[in-house]
Amino acid sequence: MKGLILAGGHGTRLRPLTFTGNKHMIPIANQPILLYGLRHLKEAGIREIAIILGPIQEGIQEAIGDGSIFGLHVEYIVQGEPKGLAHAVLCARSFLADDPFVMYLGDNLLQQGVRPFVERYENSHPDAVIGATPVAEPSHYGVVELDGDRIVSIEEKPKHPKSDLALIGVYLFTPAIHDIIAKLRPSRRGELEITEAIWQFHESGANIAVQRVDGWWKDTGRPEDLLEANEKVLRSLPPGAFERAGTIHASATVRGSVGLGLGAHVDAGATVEGPTVLGQRVGIEGSARIGPSVALGDGVQVRDAWIERSIILEGAQIEGPVHLVDSIVGRHVTLRGGAPGGSPVSLIVGDAARIQL
Ligand code: G1P
Repeated sequence: MKGLILAGGHGTRLRPLTFTGNKHMIPIANQPILLYGLRHLKEAGIREIAIILGPIQEGIQEAIGDGSIFGLHVEYIVQGEPKGLAHAVLCARSFLADDPFVMYLGDNLLQQGVRPFVERYENSHPDAVIGATPVAEPSHYGVVELDGDRIVSIEEKPKHPKSDLALIGVYLFTPAIHDIIAKLRPSRRGELEITEAIWQFHESGANIAVQRVDGWWKDTGRPEDLLEANEKVLRSLPPGAFERAGTIHASATVRGSVGLGLGAHVDAGATVEGPTVLGQRVGIEGSARIGPSVALGDGVQVRDAWIERSIILEGAQIEGPVHLVDSIVGRHVTLRGGAPGGSPVSLIVGDAARIQL
């Protein structure tokens, strides 16, 4: 079994979160999103992985290299033009050879990981396994209509969805999918759609198993999705996953699961409430209050500010009395001010901005 991770901008509908570089490398609980996919594939026993690079590649090869630090063999394939998810599979044709493979959209996060897909394949040998879960706005996704376990229809982002079951961005295919993809025509938006390939595969008589996804799933396309994913991941981490490599002053208050990276310090009078992670060398000073559901990247400094349910990227400096909630603050931002006791503010701030409230 091989793995494919799609790492950004494979379709015409680019949703770049340009506020902070490559959205696949935005940290969720201080780990780049893409690493979750890599870890899930590894947990499912997949060691040979190709990362398909789209137009936004920044930071990926630097962080993952040849995969050996993760115990994996990773290679890179450049898609060139963003002609759709099925086109990405076409680009990986020689890497995939005649092996079955799991394709993982790099901006997806799913609690249960990939293993149930692989187990389903190993137990009943379907021609493909697709994942589905009910969502509130199915028209934003591929939608599968079922009658019991039987597939009735599969459509990509239908205006009038026939069910509320969204296709999640994890797929297992046997090599017979390649013949279908080779004959696929571009859709109205000019893409080779993986959803259309799955439908045609089904129509050709293939047995497509639909795996219901237990636990949460997020397609992290929007800032609010990233914040929700950050909260969900932090809340689901076992207590042992929170390292305590930093220092907490005797008169600081730290409650719940709080991770402190090497050299991080919580000073006298400051409060940190879990689940929260502080990266290396993070400083929490003065009357600062951090958490719950906050991830502070390496080198972040916070003084006298109150931060809840937010992602603050490396090197940012925040000085209160501002009260931030549901915020994403980019790398090396300087943010100061706010009214003492003022209402909370929610900000999405790009890298290196300087803000005086
Ligand atoms: C893609 C697929 C869609 C699927 C979604 C899951 O859409 O085309 O069928 O439901 O991923 O994340 P995209 O988010 O790339 O528009």
